[in-house]
Amino acid sequence: MPGELDKPAPHTINSAMDLHARFPSLFDLKAKAKRRLPHFVWEYLDSGTGVEAARARNRAALDRIGFAPSILHGPQEPNLTCRLFGQEFALPFGIAPVGMSGLIWPDAEGHLARSAAREGLPFCLSTVASQNPEDLAPHLGSGAWFQLYPPKDPDIRHDMLHRIKAAGFTTLVLTVDVPVASRRERQVRSGLTQPPKMTPRILSHVALRPNWAMGQARKGMPRMRTLDKYIRGEHANLPPTAHVGYLLRTAPDWTYVEWLRDHWDGPLVIKGVMQPDHARRLESMGADGIWVSNHGGRQFDGAPATIDALPAVRAATTLPVIFDSGIEGGLDILRALASGADFVMLGRAFHYALAALGPKGIPHLVDILRQDMISNLGQMGVEDLRALPAPIRLD
Ligand SMILES: Cc1cc2nc3c(=O)[nH]c(=O)nc-3n(C[C@H](O)[C@H](O)[C@H](O)COP(=O)(O)O)c2cc1C
Repeated sequence: MPGELDKPAPHTINSAMDLHARFPSLFDLKAKAKRRLPHFVWEYLDSGTGVEAARARNRAALDRIGFAPSILHGPQEPNLTCRLFGQEFALPFGIAPVGMSGLIWPDAEGHLARSAAREGLPFCLSTVASQNPEDLAPHLGSGAWFQLYPPKDPDIRHDMLHRIKAAGFTTLVLTVDVPVASRRERQVRSGLTQPPKMTPRILSHVALRPNWAMGQARKGMPRMRTLDKYIRGEHANLPPTAHVGYLLRTAPDWTYVEWLRDHWDGPLVIKGVMQPDHARRLESMGADGIWVSNHGGRQFDGAPATIDALPAVRAATTLPVIFDSGIEGGLDILRALASGADFVMLGRAFHYALAALGPKGIPHLVDILRQDMISNLGQMGVEDLRALPAPIRLD
């Protein structure tokens, strides 16, 4: 019968409803993720830096943003689609780059890329991911972004850009908020070293999470596969993550941005911008997007809340503004959009979902965020994301 095919099969509805009953919000996924991951992996994923004040500020500042409730507007059908870099996305959010996602779930990047393609969301692969661009190529949708920690060696730079383009990544994201390594004391306390070593302490964490250990054993311990090709000579025997230090330049300068602009012909986004002057200068240099982020509070504990930095950056540039750091639900996404963002990304949230439920956690989280946006838009009487009202400060 026409129309019947559009309906999901009954067992799909039941299992999705069941997931919503058991894990109605990101907090339920996060609690389950914590129970399933070895302690050092949990600390890697969840931690900030310092006393985690920047992380707490991200949350508190988002909670201070409210909207006037609406009444008597009758039934509504919200439109959640969103345009960015000339492309239409099903929803106004996507998956931020996370290094070594394979530690959270085997082939995490493959699952994230496939889910993003199915759901019509952008997925951003990290330079220090545990999958390389070539292996992901068959799974990428039209919103494939690549995050660059730029290689020092010019030949490697050229080669990496070539590989990314050939694999089907359309948008290049340069991360600029890692001028030095951050201290991430929680990670250190957990026994995680750089590069990671299998100490008795780490082994004791692993022993308590046999399912995680079995999954990793089947796939092999994750490593930064994009860099494999460049490891030569005396460096060949170093541990898997030791290559970052001599191959990559996490603290690029303005000339590096110029170089990239000259050598990448697709959209170029600069991630980790918190100041209006910087946004203005980047726009004048030919960037295509500004990504406002404090790295989820993982880099600089003195940084302002990202949502507090957003309005001034928005006012300083005509470019699309992407936002991340601390997004935990659909209402947070609306808060960011109403404060000047054109698009929102989430890092930890997708990984809590993966750790909690495996691959089916990703569409479940997307659905939680979608439903939460629809519910809050209903309270606000708004049908179109482009018509969000100015937020109210709830001090
Ligand atoms: C475990 C972890 C690893 C990350 N690795 C990277 C990375 O390789 N490159 C990058 O630009 N950002 C990285 N980020 C930052 C995210 O892209 C994003 O800015 C941040 O997670 C947003 O905050 P949220 O986790 O509260 O959503 C990482 C974040 C986490 C939690």
